[in-house]
Amino acid sequence: MCGIVGYVGKANATDILLEGLEKLEYRGYDSGGIAVSGRDGVVVEKAKGRLTALREKLDRDGRPDGTVGIGHTRWATHGEPSDANAHPHRSGRVTVVHNGIIENYLSLRQRLIQKGYEFSTETDTEVVAQYLDYYYQKNHDPLTSIIKVLHRVEGAYALGILFKDHPDTLYAVRKDAPLIVGKGKEGNNLIASDATALLKHTRDVYYLENNEIAVLTADSIGFFNVDGDPVEKEESRIDWDESAAEKGGYEHFMLKEMYEQPKTIRDTLNPRIKDGNVVIEELGMTDEEIRNVGRIHIVACGSAYHTGVTGKYVFEGMCRIPVEVDLASEFRYRDPILGEKDLVIVISQSGETADSLEALRITKAAGIMTLGIVNVVGSSIAREADKVMYTWAGPEIAVATTKAYSAQLIALYLLAIRFGQALGTVDAKATASMISELKRLPDQIELLLNNKEKIQNFANHYLAAQHIFFIGRGIDYAIAMEGSLKLKEISYIHSEAYAAGELKHGTISLIEEGTLVNAIVTQDALFAKTVSNMVEVKSRGAFVMAVTNEGNTEIENTADLVIYIPQTNRFFTDSLAIIPLQLFAYYVSVGRGCDVDKPRNLAKSVTVE
Ligand code: BG6
Repeated sequence: MCGIVGYVGKANATDILLEGLEKLEYRGYDSGGIAVSGRDGVVVEKAKGRLTALREKLDRDGRPDGTVGIGHTRWATHGEPSDANAHPHRSGRVTVVHNGIIENYLSLRQRLIQKGYEFSTETDTEVVAQYLDYYYQKNHDPLTSIIKVLHRVEGAYALGILFKDHPDTLYAVRKDAPLIVGKGKEGNNLIASDATALLKHTRDVYYLENNEIAVLTADSIGFFNVDGDPVEKEESRIDWDESAAEKGGYEHFMLKEMYEQPKTIRDTLNPRIKDGNVVIEELGMTDEEIRNVGRIHIVACGSAYHTGVTGKYVFEGMCRIPVEVDLASEFRYRDPILGEKDLVIVISQSGETADSLEALRITKAAGIMTLGIVNVVGSSIAREADKVMYTWAGPEIAVATTKAYSAQLIALYLLAIRFGQALGTVDAKATASMISELKRLPDQIELLLNNKEKIQNFANHYLAAQHIFFIGRGIDYAIAMEGSLKLKEISYIHSEAYAAGELKHGTISLIEEGTLVNAIVTQDALFAKTVSNMVEVKSRGAFVMAVTNEGNTEIENTADLVIYIPQTNRFFTDSLAIIPLQLFAYYVSVGRGCDVDKPRNLAKSVTVE
């Protein structure tokens, strides 16, 4: 979704807004714009395309001068990417930037047209600017005007607002879209869609709750609810530092984040290993409460959903507890059958994905226990779930997730071991052996990352591929799903993942001479079965690359290329086998000249439906 930033203080707002937008560009990059309040009133500058286009325009036309401003980087939903549809949007004395969707914008638009307003864009956001202006003309009070509008608009929104008559003040509002307020040093205050845009200035923040309004000046920050009553808020401190949101010398954030996976796994694992045992304090469930859990539902989107699929195999295999895995966008509308003793686990890197957040709310409304596995501290899912287990991956900037995916797997493994202990399916000996295998994963991943040349050379043969398939059985099928998604996300090559046993029921018709099939073969019990599926596609002319455990050399009789991963517990192979698949996708993307970190049409967290 979009990224918004705002600043009020002593410094030149334009510089600070552009820096903040650069940090937020992974949220959407269809257009960029700023509005700065200064001697010349509120000056708006915006341009279609990347922020570079906006910078070029500012270099050409001059930079607005002022110490108060708002900025926006767009992921288009309503109205194509264009200069006109770019934010900020102005109406009369009001200028607005918006992240989210105004669902009833068409009816509001009609009402305003009847009141004589004319519209010049296709966006839903313009309605907000026009309606604010309508009420401001009536009562000349920003807060009252904002409250009036909030009572009329439906949907999700984070707004940054400037009123021409109040040049020293920045207004912000939030409902179902992320927005945090940064308390800067000595008379500098900020708003932003996420912490990465604030870290250069402050780590002291306020998390806006739904329907809260913030009023910022250089020296004060006030909060109000939708009735206009002042609200006291607690300050929080972010423990990420600025460098965490930098590339650190890597060519791409994705490559940096891939190389951060060993550290991410240690940071997510070690706080939950105490005296050789798995201790998940934040779970806060006794053995008996765990034994009372009737069924687990895992709900998520994108790559987080894929960790959920792996989670199902791990929980059912290790704990013999039934697990359902759902795409959040399906779960929220299928009226799921939830037992009162069930546990719903919502997995999300950003903690703001709209479908996952809504799935959580539906579950809570049904009185069912919820656990969030989340990476962004203070995000909506983290704050609204009954329990939250953080994945300590730090800020993840690349749109295609890698380190957060790996941390989510670790969280699921730890939960499964904890449940297995309570259910009596995992004894102390098994716990000790699994803990030592988990602790070996970071070094094993480092090894795989450092042997990247073989994958890089292999990837360079497939830069022009039209179709690439991934196959696997059991947990390997879940790994294949993620491998395929990584490739699609950043290389735009059509790719599918299939349960290997399903091929012969139709899909094998797609295999022709030279088609690349990546087979994931890490489950020893399914080794022979998967190899026979490899033989099937080979007989149709496919080139087969296999990812398998060290020692499985007989696979070389079938596969054209073999990538070996170090031995580990059968439940943990995903954490190793995904590495060569991440590298494959990365080098195909780089080879095709794609924008690895900001792939077309995608965004890091989708806060709209
Ligand atoms: C997509 C991201 O927008 O959302 C994916 O590009 C991600 O990488 C998916 O897996 C789900 O996001 P989240 O934040 O809920 O894990």
